[in-house]
Amino acid sequence: MRRMLLSSACLALVGLSNPGALLAQGAPARQPTFTKDVAPILYKNCIGCHRAGEIGPMSLVTYDEVRPWARAIRDRVNSGQMPPWFAEGDHGRFTNERRLTDAEKATLTAWVAAGAPQGNRKDLPAVPRFTDGWQIGKPDAVFEMPEPFAIPASGTIEYQYYEVPTNFTEDRWIQAAEVRPGDPKHVHHVIVSVIEPQKAERPSILQVKPIVPPNQPPAPPRAARPPLSDTERATAARRAGAITLVPWAGGEEPHVYPEGTAKRIPAGSILLFSQHYTANGTASSDRTKIGFIFSKEPPKREIRTGQILNTQFVIPPGAGDVQVEAEATMLDDAKVWTLHPHMHLRGKDMTYTVIYPDGRSEVVLKVPRYYPDWQTDYYLREPLVLPKGSRIHVTAHFDNSPGNKYNPNPNDTIRWGEQSWEEMMIGWLTYTADHAEPPGVRPTGQQ
Ligand code: HEC
Repeated sequence: MRRMLLSSACLALVGLSNPGALLAQGAPARQPTFTKDVAPILYKNCIGCHRAGEIGPMSLVTYDEVRPWARAIRDRVNSGQMPPWFAEGDHGRFTNERRLTDAEKATLTAWVAAGAPQGNRKDLPAVPRFTDGWQIGKPDAVFEMPEPFAIPASGTIEYQYYEVPTNFTEDRWIQAAEVRPGDPKHVHHVIVSVIEPQKAERPSILQVKPIVPPNQPPAPPRAARPPLSDTERATAARRAGAITLVPWAGGEEPHVYPEGTAKRIPAGSILLFSQHYTANGTASSDRTKIGFIFSKEPPKREIRTGQILNTQFVIPPGAGDVQVEAEATMLDDAKVWTLHPHMHLRGKDMTYTVIYPDGRSEVVLKVPRYYPDWQTDYYLREPLVLPKGSRIHVTAHFDNSPGNKYNPNPNDTIRWGEQSWEEMMIGWLTYTADHAEPPGVRPTGQQ
């Protein structure tokens, strides 16, 4: 925010002393135009989502499409809301990073200040080609929701859950996975998890403990709920044990696991689709699918999903900044590939810090403003190499005050729960273990 104010103050000053001059540091010394300067920025950073058929509310491809949005683009870009990316820059480097440089932001700002001119049509770069259909290539297997969901035009839509049997008769190794929503305009995010037929015998190498502050107020008894039927109870128990496979949010690239690694789906597993829809004024219908490419051979390492979680917190009514922490100790040498903060509507921020056995510590992901609407998997450019005994400490804050615009009820005491009006505190991660390999994996000598 301060940076924004400063730079607009600079613009104003330059503007006063030399009205024709262009502008903030790093901007080109001539008047930027759509065709020469702006289109390349939008094509590289925006039209993945802002084009026909994608999740962005408007297309930003042609000059006529972009012109009415010029000021909104300037504002969203300078406030850091677009492109959507929530990790603080100084910590960690990610392959799926979406970020504009200061020079690109300055160009957009200067273009708007100059009246958003079109420029010479000959300067317009070719619109990048997007592959239609599956990005991972033709999948070896596709699973979809058993029936379409009718999306209402307005109102809040509860999460929808669908169970889809894989009918796999042997364990399958997944090299790449891609979620394709039937209607990307309404599917906000999808989490596909695996309900394994029995708790798999692979040893966990994450020893997780919640950190409960000594002064935490006692939790009041939970409000009485209507008793569950046997079927409902069985369903809840089955789903509670589901292991996250692919969390997907609009605009995300497909998941391709690093060479030599793969994700396992045990024989007999059921896929659980949890679907988050947003109403946008138009009714529609959706049937989301997931496609898999199988590994040709068993991998050297199994990619596992872990969760560093605290289920014991209590968030008092109205409290604006409640800290909740959890920590995991690595029981084997390991590599961490992705990080994914998960909270619900009162989640405010989350930070992952690694503490190495020699005492050195390093912040590896900091999301200072968490938006529950943007579930994001952060793909580390280089895996984190964690010797046995390293700890990953996750710190989150929650805002249960009326000032939080997502807060459904600041008068409630909030505890862990599945529903969106309850809370979760999970630092998800995917990792591979260097030694403690489960059956089925064929490590090749190098230990
Ligand atoms: C990952 C997908 C994605 C990317 C990339 C993206 N957007 Fe968006 N954008 C959205 C979605 C979804 C919305 C509507 C929800 C919201 O406002 O957050 C939106 C909203 C907007 C709005 C507000 C529209 C309104 O109704 O007021 C503007 C302006 C915008 N985007 C500009 C941009 C620009 C400029 C870029 C590139 C620098 C960009 N976006 C990149 C998905 C994306």
